[in-house]
Amino acid sequence: MGDTSSEIAQDNSPVGTTAQAPQPARPRAFGWVPIRSLSARHRPRILAHLLALDVNDRYLRFGYAAADDQIRRYVERIAFERDEVFGVFNRRLDLIALAHLAYEPSVDAEPERPSTAEFGVSVAVRGRGRGYGARLFDHAVLRARNRGVDTIVIHALSENAAMLRIVGNAGATIERTGVDAEAHLRLPPENFASIMAGMVEQQLGELDYQFKQGARRRDTVLEIGARNGDSPPP
Ligand SMILES: CC(C)(COP(=O)(O)OP(=O)(O)OC[C@H]1O[C@@H](n2cnc3c(N)ncnc32)[C@H](O)[C@@H]1OP(=O)(O)O)[C@@H](O)C(=O)NCCC(=O)NCCS
Repeated sequence: MGDTSSEIAQDNSPVGTTAQAPQPARPRAFGWVPIRSLSARHRPRILAHLLALDVNDRYLRFGYAAADDQIRRYVERIAFERDEVFGVFNRRLDLIALAHLAYEPSVDAEPERPSTAEFGVSVAVRGRGRGYGARLFDHAVLRARNRGVDTIVIHALSENAAMLRIVGNAGATIERTGVDAEAHLRLPPENFASIMAGMVEQQLGELDYQFKQGARRRDTVLEIGARNGDSPPP
């Protein structure tokens, strides 16, 4: 549910714990999904994506039915200098899937190496069931691991079958507390392969975005040309 979940009234009496043995990565039935890192200048797109969620999805994402103003405040307060935000863009450059990895400031001698991070995600209705949520989670695992994080925490509602499936597939331990569920995924330390994979994903996500941006500009030029009765460029 992301880093605003503290605003929810919590029932802390554990009623169920699901401790799942770490599972090997399952082959995904979906193709490669380009994921792009977002920065403060993307706040308007992030806001548009979140405002488009209906009441039920806002409840699932934040743990309460966030009003527009609460979402605005959440977006304004995202600490891009500390956290990581990344997403999936479609051909029209709409942000159709968004993840926020909020790093917990470390209390030990190495503040730049947080030990935990909280993951929150949302996928636009029209993009669901294509593996975007799972891919964003995999990406978050890689990013967090390469930052030296040892545990990812996910707050979700117990009814959130899709989210619990994503974290369960990754081997997280899930503890259910009434309507709330908290999942913990322990991460292995970074290694050469994870660092290389992180760099490659970052570069490919950026390249994909630049490509879509170029295609969109070209489409716009062609549309304007067509409206003005120009013949298309060769
Ligand atoms: C949760 C959410 C992010 C999932 O995104 P998604 O892109 O549709 O999910 P995926 O396509 O990656 O599917 C992930 C897994 O969940 C399963 N799944 C998807 N929708 C499901 C549903 N409604 N019920 C049960 N399982 C479901 C998929 O089959 C897949 O499991 P598999 O790999 O074992 O087959 C999306 O539904 C969403 O944005 N919900 C609203 C916000 C929210 O709940 N955020 C999470 C709180 S932080």
